[in-house]
Amino acid sequence: MKKNFCLAISAIIILFLFLSGCGTYGQSTTGGGAAQATAPLTDTKLVTVGFSQVGAESDWRNINTDSMKESLSAENGYDLIYDDGQQKQHNQITAIRTFIQKEVEYIVLAPVIEDGWDTVLTEAKDANIPVILVDRMVNVSDPDLFTCWVGSDFELEGHKVCEWLNEFCRANRINGNEINIVNIKGTEGASAELGRTKSLKSAVSRYGWNLLDERSGEFTQAKGREVMSQFLKEYDNINVVYSENDNEAFGAIEAIEAAGKHVGSDIKHGEIMVLAFDGTSDQAVEAVRLGRITCIGECNPLHGPRVEKIIRNLEGGITPDKYEYVDEGIFSADQSVKSVTIGDETYEVRLP
Ligand code: AHR
Repeated sequence: MKKNFCLAISAIIILFLFLSGCGTYGQSTTGGGAAQATAPLTDTKLVTVGFSQVGAESDWRNINTDSMKESLSAENGYDLIYDDGQQKQHNQITAIRTFIQKEVEYIVLAPVIEDGWDTVLTEAKDANIPVILVDRMVNVSDPDLFTCWVGSDFELEGHKVCEWLNEFCRANRINGNEINIVNIKGTEGASAELGRTKSLKSAVSRYGWNLLDERSGEFTQAKGREVMSQFLKEYDNINVVYSENDNEAFGAIEAIEAAGKHVGSDIKHGEIMVLAFDGTSDQAVEAVRLGRITCIGECNPLHGPRVEKIIRNLEGGITPDKYEYVDEGIFSADQSVKSVTIGDETYEVRLP
């Protein structure tokens, strides 16, 4: 009798424990519950990421967008909210505020320009949302307003292309003061524009080139064509175009040919040499191989896997490097210059 009573009590206890376990598991599927019970949820829950992209101004940008979307896919465990800022900072600020309202777990920002981010990044910090910067940089009073940055050294890209032009001049016995150059700048205030323009300015004073003019082509083909047409009307001695991305270069080539002139490296015989940055699209690769763009400073757009790795590390409690620069090279089909040296580093000039 006593034995039967003990068995009945044990059965009741086991049944109680089983039922209470089910109850806890049920709670976890709606987001609450103990750590033990939330484990299955963590396995299946997607990490929410808001990505504010600059826009779709260039081939580089479209490749970059694809790379980000592929890496931050649902198959990889992410719920990505993508926003195209259409090259407007106020659109990007609105997007970040929306991400904060939606309580995303991470914000990824490709900032159109460097200045003007303090307020909205403070709002993200107050909401405890880590901000990962990609591609361009921000100029903020407190570096803690972003978790980390991954992108290109734009000033170094500019140094490589300028050094290439200097070496080309030496190899072809062209004096610095015979170089009459125009700069089709990118979006003013963007890191890519600031860095590449800075390098050109210092090369101009170092090598005695004539910088005839500079104007923004906003990193687009249409604006690049418009700016170059205007330059050709105003200056009849242009022999080098420093175009701050491939798309502006494509527009510049259209304008040069529409004016009845020729592109190429034979500037001693009237050709106009086009220099550019990116080297990512098939059209750019073809232009370099045909010598229509003489030299390109590579800018790597494939940041998706890098950003995904950063988020994975943060999820695992690993602090990423604050700044991660990507490796990049220099492309040309011209045989005059085999390599360029910047500081301690030598970059072989290659076909893309
Ligand atoms: O910030 C990277 C630059 O932005 C690329 O050179 C350009 O093509 C893009 O629009």
